[in-house]
Amino acid sequence: MAVVDTQRQGEIVIIRMDNPPVNALGHALRLGLEKAFGEANADAGVAAIVLTGTGRFFSAGADITEFKGEMKEPHLPQLIDKIEAGSKPVVAAINGTALGGGLELALGCHYRVAAKDVRQLGLPEIKLGIIPGAGGTQRLPRAVGIEQALQMITSGVFIDAKKAVATGLIDSVADGDVVATAIAFAKQQIGKEPRRIGEKRIDKASIPADLFDKARASIGRHPSGPIAPKCAIDAVEAATQVPLAEGNARERKLFREAAASPYARALQYAFFAERQAANLPGIAPDAKLRDINTVGILGAGTMGTGIALAFLNGGFPVTIVETTQEALDRGVDRIKDTLSANAKRGRITESQAADRFAKLTPSLQMDDLEKSDLVIEAVFENMALKKEVFQKLDKIAKRGAILATNTSTLDVDEIAAVTKRPQDVVGMHFFSPANIMRLLEIVRAEKTANDVMATAMGIAKRIGKVGVQAGVCDGFVGNRMLAAYGNEVQAMTLEGAMPREIDGALEAWGMAMGPLAVSDLAGLDVGYRIRKERKLTGEAAQFARVPDKIVEMGRHGQKTGAGYYKYDASRKRINDPEIEALIRSEAQALQIKQRHIPAEEIVERCLLRLANEGAKIVEEGIALRASDCDVMYLNGYGFPAWRGGPMWQVDNVIGMRNAAEKIKGYAATYGARWKIASLIERLAAENGTFAGVDVKKK
Ligand code: 3HC
Ligand code: NAI
Repeated sequence: MAVVDTQRQGEIVIIRMDNPPVNALGHALRLGLEKAFGEANADAGVAAIVLTGTGRFFSAGADITEFKGEMKEPHLPQLIDKIEAGSKPVVAAINGTALGGGLELALGCHYRVAAKDVRQLGLPEIKLGIIPGAGGTQRLPRAVGIEQALQMITSGVFIDAKKAVATGLIDSVADGDVVATAIAFAKQQIGKEPRRIGEKRIDKASIPADLFDKARASIGRHPSGPIAPKCAIDAVEAATQVPLAEGNARERKLFREAAASPYARALQYAFFAERQAANLPGIAPDAKLRDINTVGILGAGTMGTGIALAFLNGGFPVTIVETTQEALDRGVDRIKDTLSANAKRGRITESQAADRFAKLTPSLQMDDLEKSDLVIEAVFENMALKKEVFQKLDKIAKRGAILATNTSTLDVDEIAAVTKRPQDVVGMHFFSPANIMRLLEIVRAEKTANDVMATAMGIAKRIGKVGVQAGVCDGFVGNRMLAAYGNEVQAMTLEGAMPREIDGALEAWGMAMGPLAVSDLAGLDVGYRIRKERKLTGEAAQFARVPDKIVEMGRHGQKTGAGYYKYDASRKRINDPEIEALIRSEAQALQIKQRHIPAEEIVERCLLRLANEGAKIVEEGIALRASDCDVMYLNGYGFPAWRGGPMWQVDNVIGMRNAAEKIKGYAATYGARWKIASLIERLAAENGTFAGVDVKKK
């Protein structure tokens, strides 16, 4: 099938890109465009050209899958330069999303018209660890001004058609058919010298003197790591210093520098891993899904209200049920307050906030869930209560409704077994705050039906979450790995690494927040209650001594103003010698000799414990693939995307053999908690990688 289609309307040629699913500018499309533009320019009967896309996409940019190999000619930058250099006016009719190379292509056109409902215009290359490489860093500043361009290129944000016209990125917005508007626009340009953005000179006087220094100073903890943001700033600065051709050459060099970094590989892996997670083996991508139009939620506590917000924000009507008027009112107030805070911050409009709130039906009657297509239970974490609730739900919910539990620790099979429809029961484990965190762990119980899994995955996408399948086990995937990580952190404190050293080492490495600071944020009392219920013995009991004593001192974390750290009124964390003394005295009581643990060892031990547990989870079939473990860590646990995830680190940085040796070394020193996963042993022997493990042949 042709990826480029041309049509003639009088003196105008309409060139349409048609390369599903997103009009990525792969080799075939570049060839097609080169040919179509070549013919149009050579044809004396053609006076102007309109370039457009198909469906929802103008073009999502370069084909990322081509980055791994040698790019074949024609290269995108040259193609765009040729389009801009042409003597016949070219109008981009931006029918839909135009990102990265797609927007760079539009910037090479002489004029741009966008459909009214276009919402995704931007240069998101930075999110893939690279920078725009087809003139975007040179032409965008010339179109929208340096400051706006710098902001767009270093953040990768998308803007909509309305904002694009205000910034000068596009010339006009089409109310009706965008191609017809572009044709009319093109006709007015016939015979005139085309306007070429690349020829525009940037007025240096209008640029704040310290703009680039300030931008460089703010790279600090950029979500794309240290290299791509630096390259992006250098490239945009070049646009203020040299003409287009020279600027493009500098951009190319900086593009290559960013692309060669391991951070770019990690971020591109993360992009595909996230999409791969939605692929469930044995379920066709076009499998028939259950129709989900209404959502019911049981429990209006921390999670119930967050989940309700996630669905209201996703456009769903939500019924939320509580046991007492007081609890219901509290939950409804929280939902209302969050929506109005979002409106005040400009994230949504006042009328959107009102519309979303109007879709909420609060109730004290479980019977009101009879019409819900999906019911999510978020009551207290107590098996007897969950069973009672599911027995009732089984009687109330309509046939075919999906019954989900948000449990974080309980056995979903046991919950499903109290119903007469275990095939309709699934775990939907949201992370707190549920309206913000992107991860949704979808727990497949023994009898969960395929279409329920596929529907839950689709729902995740509809509410802007990243759905990842997990099997039933203690902690599922994410929290089971977290338990191993937390366990090693406690071991290291007793061995002599103070909280500030542990959190400092991991934060310097890129973690959003160190593990002890996270515990203070989440509340230390939660883990305390779980530990007391589980009646720990042996090493686990030893590791519980410090955190238990901290809670018993009345320090529950940030909410009580103190935990592992003290907190001032602005929640700034302050090291506390009292806690360091407590750690030292507990170590002494346990006869553990303390020493200084270097930052590299702290990071290595945390990473290897995470990856070793992840490998066990993969070999047990609890996670479908190692990359799913990474997707969880990147989206639910503050692991830096530019580091790929713990499994990717083993495959690409640490090395499987090296990891196996190190784990065995730690096992010799520390014993059973470092028992190597047999998958790592096997892969190390075979010189294999986690990425090479076949989903079905685990
Ligand atoms: N290259 C190759 N494949 C791409 C792609 C791209 N640029 N963009 C999307 N795809 C693929 C996805 O992998 C997915 O494949 P699958 O169905 O096999 O899993 C399919 O297209 C559909 O993608 P999504 O599921 O993400 O579809 P959505 O509708 O949810 O989102 C999107 C669409 C917003 C365009 C999103 O896919 C996206 O953000 N894509 C990446 C955009 C981007 O980063 N562009 C810049 C590329 S780099 C570049 O242009 C360099 C240049 O400067 C030289
Ligand atoms: P919470 O204590 O804040 O809220 C629970 C709510 O359920 C309370 O408002 C209570 O009145 C209500 N409730 C109790 N019985 C009910 C019933 N029969 N019908 C309707 N409502 C009822 O608890 P939280 O933190 O929201 O946790 C809820 C569930 O989510 C638990 O299973 C928990 O393990 C899980 N979870 C919690 C996370 C967290 O960070 N808090 C993260 C992920 C999952």
